[in-house]
Amino acid sequence: MDFHDRHLLRLRVNGEDHSLSDLDPRVTLLDLLRERLHLTGTKKGCNFGECGACTVHLDERRVNACMILAVSCEGREVTTIEGLANGDALHPVQQAFIDHDGFQCGFCTPGQVMSAAALIEEGHTGSDAEIREWMSGNLCRCSAYPQIVEAVRAAAGRVSQ
Ligand code: FES
Ligand code: FES
Repeated sequence: MDFHDRHLLRLRVNGEDHSLSDLDPRVTLLDLLRERLHLTGTKKGCNFGECGACTVHLDERRVNACMILAVSCEGREVTTIEGLANGDALHPVQQAFIDHDGFQCGFCTPGQVMSAAALIEEGHTGSDAEIREWMSGNLCRCSAYPQIVEAVRAAAGRVSQ
């Protein structure tokens, strides 16, 4: 990004290219998604990197969107909860959260689902203890943790079939 286009950001979100102008360089990826692109499925919990409610995939790796400056996403690919399903077919993790009641109020759920989808790809689902450890960055105020672990375990089984 040079001096002349420092306020222009190009990135791909859920398979769609975006060019955003007049971008304040202090804007986080989370605020860009929610306020400029109106993708409000990604939640703002702490806005401080501690709760995981804002988890998205950046170039296929999970990140806390509140801790990423939007300008650092130039040319990169973002997937949010809105882009996880394949058309009308839910992602196996989404289906497993429904099947196993992996939520109560649902506020943390988009982040939990995005984290779990990446965790399965990373291969960290060898045991319930491993799932708990690698999901530990995603907090749930409703304490639905047992059902979340069940859902992740079930989804991991489906993905690997
Ligand atoms: Fe980003 Fe809590 S809102 S970690
Ligand atoms: Fe309510 Fe997790 S389901 S915060």
